[in-house]
Amino acid sequence: MAKPLSLEKILFSQGFGTRRYCSDLVYADLVKINGVVCEDPEERIATDGLILNVEGKDWEFHEKAYIAFHKPPNYECSHKTTHHPSVYSLLPRPFVERGLQCVGRLDYDTTGLLLISDDGQFIHQMTTPKKNIGKVYKITTPEPITQKQMEHLLKGVVLDDDPRPCSAVACEQLGENKLAMTIVEGRYHQVKRMLAAVGNHVEQLHRVEIGRYVMPADLQEGEWRWLYPDDLSKLAKSVEN
Ligand code: URA
Repeated sequence: MAKPLSLEKILFSQGFGTRRYCSDLVYADLVKINGVVCEDPEERIATDGLILNVEGKDWEFHEKAYIAFHKPPNYECSHKTTHHPSVYSLLPRPFVERGLQCVGRLDYDTTGLLLISDDGQFIHQMTTPKKNIGKVYKITTPEPITQKQMEHLLKGVVLDDDPRPCSAVACEQLGENKLAMTIVEGRYHQVKRMLAAVGNHVEQLHRVEIGRYVMPADLQEGEWRWLYPDDLSKLAKSVEN
């Protein structure tokens, strides 16, 4: 059982603003615990299973945040974007305040599964190439995919800026112009460059799996959801030691 914390500390830890602002939220009667307004920012509250209500919205307490997000096209995975709005603009404000970061980036035009967290160790584990975590992409191409191209992707291709070959760990043809490909590295524009290296092209790119975690079918574009212990243990099992 976690140690009870003051309400002000709890709100601050969840990203509701500065300590001062969090106290003011409580003094303004804008915070409820179990449906009851709490008037004292110093009141100590048990955090296990805690659901706060802040300014009329329920908020689950999570010491560290781990979320799955379905990225829509035309958003950048960066806080300081250049040409398109940021994926962070689609998330609740407290996530941005508490410093959530994407676990590896997707290109602005790629859609699908993004993990986002404020746990630095988790982000490192999930992104370091040493851990060999498979990422599955569904790819649509303008030219039909040939057997030769699939064999070439599996055997390995050399990308122009790097003599080390990079290969797909699995390729499955889903249609004449559709392919599911698993890679374990995360080089810059890797899938697009691999397809170009075998003489085809990526028209649409959509990520569906990271390790053993599959994007839930009912998670719509632009939606996010918390990852719970079952999801996190699937991800932990994907990490090679
Ligand atoms: N490979 C790419 O080329 N783009 C992505 O967004 C992800 C993997």
